[in-house]
Amino acid sequence: MGIDVKLFLAGFCIAHTQGFNVGTAGAKIFSGPAVEEFGYTVQQISNDQGKWMLVGSPWSGYPQNRKGNIYKCDLNASRRAPCQKLNLADSISIEGVQSINVNMSLGLTLTPIAKPNTLMTCGPLWAQRCGSQYFYPGVCAEVSPQFTLQPAFSPAIQSCGGPMDVAIVLDGSNSIYPWPDVRNFLIKLLENLDIGPDKTRVSIIQYSEDLSFLYPFSSDKNKDKVLSAASGIEQKTGEETNTFEALDYVRQTAFLPENGGRPGATKVLVVVTDGESTDGHKGQEVIERCKRDGIVRFGIAILKQSADIQKFIKEIELIASTPTENYMFNVSSEQALINIAGTLGDRIFNIEGTSQGQEFQLEMSQVGFSAHQTNKKDVIMLGAVGAYGWSGTVVHHTAGKPHIFLKNAFEKTLDDRNHSSLLGYSVTSVSDGSSEFFVAGAPRAVHRGQVIVYSVNSQNQPIIVVCGLQIGSYFGSVLCPVDVNADGVTDLLLVGAPMYMSEEKSETGRVYLFTITEGILSHQGVLEGPSASENARFGTAITAVPDLNLDNFSDVVVGAPLEGNGQGNGQGAIYIYYGDRKTIRKQSSQVEHTNNFIYIYIYIYIYIYVCVCVCVCVCIIHR
Ligand SMILES: *[C@@H]1O[C@H](CO)[C@@H](O)[C@H](O)[C@H]1NC(C)=O
Ligand SMILES: *[C@@H]1O[C@H](CO)[C@@H](O)[C@H](O)[C@H]1NC(C)=O
Ligand SMILES: *[C@@H]1O[C@H](CO)[C@@H](O)[C@H](O)[C@H]1NC(C)=O
Ligand SMILES: *[C@@H]1O[C@H](CO)[C@@H](O)[C@H](O)[C@H]1NC(C)=O
Ligand SMILES: *[C@@H]1O[C@H](CO)[C@@H](O)[C@H](O)[C@H]1NC(C)=O
Repeated sequence: MGIDVKLFLAGFCIAHTQGFNVGTAGAKIFSGPAVEEFGYTVQQISNDQGKWMLVGSPWSGYPQNRKGNIYKCDLNASRRAPCQKLNLADSISIEGVQSINVNMSLGLTLTPIAKPNTLMTCGPLWAQRCGSQYFYPGVCAEVSPQFTLQPAFSPAIQSCGGPMDVAIVLDGSNSIYPWPDVRNFLIKLLENLDIGPDKTRVSIIQYSEDLSFLYPFSSDKNKDKVLSAASGIEQKTGEETNTFEALDYVRQTAFLPENGGRPGATKVLVVVTDGESTDGHKGQEVIERCKRDGIVRFGIAILKQSADIQKFIKEIELIASTPTENYMFNVSSEQALINIAGTLGDRIFNIEGTSQGQEFQLEMSQVGFSAHQTNKKDVIMLGAVGAYGWSGTVVHHTAGKPHIFLKNAFEKTLDDRNHSSLLGYSVTSVSDGSSEFFVAGAPRAVHRGQVIVYSVNSQNQPIIVVCGLQIGSYFGSVLCPVDVNADGVTDLLLVGAPMYMSEEKSETGRVYLFTITEGILSHQGVLEGPSASENARFGTAITAVPDLNLDNFSDVVVGAPLEGNGQGNGQGAIYIYYGDRKTIRKQSSQVEHTNNFIYIYIYIYIYIYVCVCVCVCVCIIHR
């Protein structure tokens, strides 16, 4: 520690030509692959082995598998010592969930929590598989001081639907031809179902005049066995098509416990036939009984030229549950059956999950896109940008229990008719000394960005204060509260609008200053940043740093990751602003261009244990 401080102070003094400057000559530089987004997040911790910088690299594994990684970089190592990967993504698992540990972008979020030297990291694109469907509830886990991953949690995890007994009833009469096409359809359909003893069980039945029980629910319940049985099924043949007699018989017998049916399971019938039945007069009555027994019915019609199509369609419509468009399929031939197998599988799967065509709730919520531990209350805020069709929401994780705000909590405030506000892109909290307020950014709310300040009432409903500015600026994508004089009261909230367009039509970016009184923001102007001609994206990263110029006020560093891009003299810059009593000076005290390095980290050690990193990186919204 001592060595570092001396190094740093030396740099401090050498560069001390116009007021206080932060010396970069002695800076340690940790570099990593740009394609991995190395440096998207950085945090420092100490443990019994020393002092470390942890660096998130959310696209690690690109291009095949952007599962993400976190690097540990030894702050006591020699300059330019390489960082080491922690490889935490593979160990993520959640009991009882089919976890898809690829492309999850672990390390996109990395934030300190109330436990000492413990961080929380999230992989907001972590996926869960339900049958053939993938959901993206996101996953988070604590990283211990020894860099081990604690048990992961996913507040928006989807339940994949309960047990389901699916009876597949195939017309095996002579008119069905060629039979192998039906078999191929059956196999593909089965492949799309989540088959297993406690999940989906399948019974396969074939009929013509009468009916054969080929494969009752009680047969081997493992997917491979079911598939191999299906691939051996021969056509029953027969002159007649007693569809309704077959259905009534299946209704009465197939679902019985002695045939392997489960009383608590959802009962599903899938009927495949190519023509009007010979017992159509029984139709109404049989289907009424199926309804009474709570059987969900899918009707698949193979339309043939010769058949009386209108009458046949009416019959299949009668069989299918409502709304008919979700439960009825038609194909032009046996060969075409295979084309609907995937969709049919998904629809069966979704009987209990997301209903087809309905808007997403939390299936794609990407919890953990941002995270923040509040100061006073023991709340970890987690942004969930994908919730409710990308309107977004915030999850409050208190004492291990998540509370997910419902759509209506922020709906009116966001005025989110087009479902893309991305609330939860950023989260933080501010304090007025006695009360703490939660803050969440919604950078695409009504195409201009919004910051929502709220507290939570006893009904767990947010009480809201609103703010929004220029169109298309991504206002609110970055939030940074600053307590300038370290008295426990948030003096300023800095809000980044990195895509702010200047009069010269460049994405200069802006940082807005707000003071907060009882949760109400009042605008205090903007920081002076890059010139209007720069495509700088000023405000992509903002952080408060402990006193740099030894006046006992916190200072602020702002990143402009694309500055200087146009002139070919390097990429990126950081701006330093000094704190002054209860505010910060709007003129920067120092601008440091990161020549030759796209990704550079200047770390500054000040006093014991107080370390700050500023990362300059290109933010990409991962959707
Ligand atoms: C992961 O991402 C890569 C690149 O986009 C893609 O090719 C691959 O199919 C993805 N894997 C999964 C399981 O989604
Ligand atoms: C830092 O490294 C030096 C040698 O490289 C060692 O003497 C010193 O004890 C280390 N300090 C810490 C805090 O680990
Ligand atoms: C068959 O399905 C298609 C779309 O799925 C639909 O447009 C068409 O009207 C259906 N044909 C009949 C005869 O119902
Ligand atoms: C929604 O999107 C449409 C087209 O994309 C646009 O014309 C309309 O103004 C948008 N409405 C709102 C409230 O943003
Ligand atoms: C900063 O605070 C320390 C300790 O409270 C004090 O000794 C010092 O004089 C202060 N410096 C300034 C510039 O106010």
